[in-house]
Amino acid sequence: MDRRRALIYSRISGTGSFLPEKVLSNRDLESMVDTSDEWIVTRTGIKERHIVAEGQTTCDLAEQAALRALDAAGLKPSEIDFLIVGTTTPDLVFPSTACLLQHRLGMDGISAMDVNAACSGFIYALAVADKFIKTGDSVKALVIGAETLTRMVDWNDRSTAVLFGDGAGAAVIEASDQPGILSTHIHASGGHADLLCTEVGVSKGFKAEPGGGVKVRMKGSEVFKVAVRTLGQIVDETLAKNNMTKKDIDWLIPHQANLRIIKATAKKLNMPEDRVIVTVHKHGNTSSASVPLALDGAIRSGRIQRGETLLLEAFGGGFTWGSALIKY
Ligand code: ACO
Repeated sequence: MDRRRALIYSRISGTGSFLPEKVLSNRDLESMVDTSDEWIVTRTGIKERHIVAEGQTTCDLAEQAALRALDAAGLKPSEIDFLIVGTTTPDLVFPSTACLLQHRLGMDGISAMDVNAACSGFIYALAVADKFIKTGDSVKALVIGAETLTRMVDWNDRSTAVLFGDGAGAAVIEASDQPGILSTHIHASGGHADLLCTEVGVSKGFKAEPGGGVKVRMKGSEVFKVAVRTLGQIVDETLAKNNMTKKDIDWLIPHQANLRIIKATAKKLNMPEDRVIVTVHKHGNTSSASVPLALDGAIRSGRIQRGETLLLEAFGGGFTWGSALIKY
């Protein structure tokens, strides 16, 4: 029997994360736009965010997170056979950030791709890598969420400038006969594109200025309502698929965009707050980096233990949303 076929699960064998050095606090933002620490903390839970240095790129952040995840898994880059990066802020339009990183880590020849699903990027990437492992095409995959979203922030728009930060998180997943990733669920609804988007792209309004004039635009309160409703639905879908109930979940690891959205999802799950991983206060919304940043922090601090059941979920521009149920 083909050994790969017997390995029907993919398991997380290591995680890593990285935040750039520079910290921008809410107090710092008070001198940049008409806002206050009190408004930001009350409406979002964010206290500070990390910002990339000049010249530092998404690939640089991804590399550090990847090296930490590989170290935790006890693997060399050359042992990885599939590389996928969730990002909406690639260094270049092409080559993909995954290709840039692959070459840097000396992994030339393996499949390498980016997936752009905004804040759901890591969950989308994890879903793809999980499928590659479950079909036997891959045995050891490196899955990354990495972003430099602050390069697309309009620092004059207080309604978005306070929300975002930069960072990266990574997970190594390996084929196993033990669970593992139990299921992943990914969805999209392009009809809501105008609620959360960039108005500028390669074919639309591109400007000869740093960043090409790309700026995040968001109708925050409308996004908020759809996010709360949709994340509630995907919790139900994930539990139903696995014949599980809310009581079976040990940890909720949500997208770190807004503490109020996190609390609403936790309430729907009847999860006590001490079983919900919250890191949004430390790094703001880092888009596709947010779930792996939270996951890695909780694993390294010893809060999440082997054998526990984790529910990862995210919601972002597109709209996109997704979840992963994992026996860690
Ligand atoms: N400081 C002070 N006041 C502000 C600020 C600010 N930074 N930003 C907005 N305000 C004001 C508004 O102008 C408005 O004033 P008004 O009543 O005089 O008109 C008031 O605060 C309320 O504004 P709302 O937008 O209604 O505030 P809300 O409570 O909805 O909070 C927020 C805004 C934090 C953006 C919230 O809607 C939110 O988190 N939305 C969801 C974001 C999200 O989850 N995104 C996920 C994906 S992100 C991605 O994919 C890239």
